[in-house]
Amino acid sequence: MKIASRIDNLPPYVFATVEKRIAEQRAKGVDVISLGIGSPDLAPPKYIIDALYESALKEDTHGYAGYYGTPALRKATAEYYGKRFGVELDPDTEVRPLIGSKEGLANINLAFIDPGEIALATDPGYPTYRMGALLANGDAYSMPLREENDWLPVFEDIPGDILAKARIMWLNYPNNPTGAIAPMAFLQQAVDFASAHDLLICYDNPYCDVTFDSYVAPSILQVPGAKDVCIEFNSLSKTYNMAGWRVGLALGSAKAIDALTTVKTNIDSGIFRPIQDAATVALTGDQSWLADRNAIYQERRDIIMEWLPTIGMSAEVPKGGLYVWAKTPEGVNAQEFAVDVLEKVGVWMTPGTAFGDYGEGYLRLSICISADRLREAGERLLRL
Ligand SMILES: Cc1ncc(COP(=O)(O)O)c(C=O)c1O
Repeated sequence: MKIASRIDNLPPYVFATVEKRIAEQRAKGVDVISLGIGSPDLAPPKYIIDALYESALKEDTHGYAGYYGTPALRKATAEYYGKRFGVELDPDTEVRPLIGSKEGLANINLAFIDPGEIALATDPGYPTYRMGALLANGDAYSMPLREENDWLPVFEDIPGDILAKARIMWLNYPNNPTGAIAPMAFLQQAVDFASAHDLLICYDNPYCDVTFDSYVAPSILQVPGAKDVCIEFNSLSKTYNMAGWRVGLALGSAKAIDALTTVKTNIDSGIFRPIQDAATVALTGDQSWLADRNAIYQERRDIIMEWLPTIGMSAEVPKGGLYVWAKTPEGVNAQEFAVDVLEKVGVWMTPGTAFGDYGEGYLRLSICISADRLREAGERLLRL
């Protein structure tokens, strides 16, 4: 049995490997505190869970739910974008629900990348940007995110021969893993650059409603003309604490949405109807709980910011997302440090290199864990 080279050449998905490593420690009886994956540890409010339950009780909600998402969910999404960002979307042509945004991030490559073509992916960045291009028999080019550039890519640095083969460009702010945010002027610059070079911007925006210190994150679709060159990915995973439910959204360019839909109709058969019904309620219901939830994350962020210097680490205070992007102690290799810390004190922090070569020198710390456990992690790290 021969496995296709596209799979053989793919590195294992980083968090699958991490899960294994943590499981090994736990099997040895170590009480691991994992600051690894960004999976919200809190539940959505009861009214969203009730909507799921009520829909599931109905006789007619258990068949295939259709390829395009329910009209109600598409309408709710368009209304949410209208209210939240002032962006007008046609629910039929400019909105498509996804089975979690990750499948959309991967599948968009099948729609836009031919063999040998290139996706411009931020480095460090969410691994699926790069892997999606490889799965489409394309390639990924790393756009470095550096502290001195406020973690924004420098478009002028992309070589001409790469640009000639590039079809899509990934951007993600509030950014995973760096916690950086993007000013509107940068988003405008990105749209202009994409228009000039015939690129599709894939703007990954799952953290737009997980923000702190009164920061309000934009959608790239707010930039005039963005719908001509952008598809935005959003997700209910982080905004509504619904990561395991698997509901994401693709929005913007009708041409891109249509091409993505062609891929998806051949691969999947839509989202379970009760989940779509509950997602509709999540988007249209009372949003006031999000501020309280963000205050919880903010407190956790601040706990980490407090203990980082005690172990020789530092970080910029993130205004959004679920992570603190911390510099390793001077001269220390991120991967070696992470493994050493896990083995010595049972705390797991993800080495920055899990997100690309430019992540060297950093560790990503997730805030999806209780304040008490975060304090305990800080105390344990003092014993290093
Ligand atoms: C930047 C980024 N994009 C996309 C996703 C995937 O989210 P979803 O649960 O919608 O697949 C994540 C999840 O951690 C993420 O960090």
